[in-house]
Amino acid sequence: MTFEGVTVFIQKIYKTTGFIPLHEPKFLGNEKKYLNECVDSTFVSSVGKFVDKFEEKIANYTGVKYAIATSNGTSALHVSLLLANVGCGDEVITQPLTFVATCNAISYCGANPVFVDVDKETMGLSPSALKGFLEKNTSIIDQQCINNYTGKVIKACVPMHTFGHPCRIDEIKCICDKYYIFLIEDAAESVGSTYKGRHTGTFGQVGVMSFNGNKIITAGGGGCIVTNDKALAKKAKHLTTTAKVPHKWDFNHDMIGYNYRMPNLNAALLVAQLENLDNFISSKRKLANVYEAFFSDADYAFIKEPMESESNYWLNSILLKNKQQRDEFLDETNSSGIMTRPIWTLMNKLPMFEYAQCGDLKNSEWLEERVVNIPSSIVL
Ligand SMILES: Cc1ncc(COP(=O)(O)O)c(C=O)c1O
Repeated sequence: MTFEGVTVFIQKIYKTTGFIPLHEPKFLGNEKKYLNECVDSTFVSSVGKFVDKFEEKIANYTGVKYAIATSNGTSALHVSLLLANVGCGDEVITQPLTFVATCNAISYCGANPVFVDVDKETMGLSPSALKGFLEKNTSIIDQQCINNYTGKVIKACVPMHTFGHPCRIDEIKCICDKYYIFLIEDAAESVGSTYKGRHTGTFGQVGVMSFNGNKIITAGGGGCIVTNDKALAKKAKHLTTTAKVPHKWDFNHDMIGYNYRMPNLNAALLVAQLENLDNFISSKRKLANVYEAFFSDADYAFIKEPMESESNYWLNSILLKNKQQRDEFLDETNSSGIMTRPIWTLMNKLPMFEYAQCGDLKNSEWLEERVVNIPSSIVL
């Protein structure tokens, strides 16, 4: 099978026969102005008006009471797990089909991931697989979910909104509540995506976002935690700012804290990006429509936003028929200068996590062999 038609089509969209990256940032507004303001004011580091401004703006945008800016999405995940009191020997349920940062953060706490399958339609954690796993493998003792197989406590659950497509998060929330499991949404990829009219990341006790250079809006590097819980927000701010006890001159710290603050320079870039987020989303949704119309051929399937959701279409993805066809597609497009890539290797196949307990992962395995991301930068 040849994929020349796809190559020509993507080159037409991006109006070049040169290299086409998977996703590049766009700086179209006040980025330089705000960065200059930072430099002129000398507030380039962990204190400054743009950090506060960003926290206020993202809280308003997502519809939560509190937002805490962090150095990146991984640090936001780490702190969120600490907010759930995840510690040494605890267990955290997540999906095997995710970026490695989700599982790394679990390991930073000395905890172990437990892998439960995704839904084919959303590529995110499956509520029915989660329910089935918990019913079969756990008991509730003293308001704690105990894994019958390991005797450990399952403290938290971290579903992920894959490539910006929301998973069935309201059903997941109900299940977690029933089993006394703290819900952390990994919304690193889904800034601007909504499920049943509500922003992703706002269903769980906390949600986490990433503003890395490859995301829909970027701080260069950055992340945030969003929550409606005042006590959790206060603790998150404390933990991410070295746990310093506020005082005019004294340097006191009341617990092990982290230097996970977002510098003012990064926040300045991000505030400018946030001003364009709605334009970026509508442009990405137009691109998704163009791709959807093209990939209606029987040899491919374009992965559409799930029911009752509005996706930011951060990374567009298609399904090839099988692994062999997927590899041929990757080879031909990358050889023509068009950056495409397969979905991640499942986390339970990585050496650090290969001993983790797993449910039946048939959907994750099916998707792993077939899903490919295609260029998704904003086209204007
Ligand atoms: C699903 C997911 N979780 C976490 C992260 C970590 O974010 P960061 O790169 O900002 O640390 C990313 C992205 O990079 C991601 O895609």
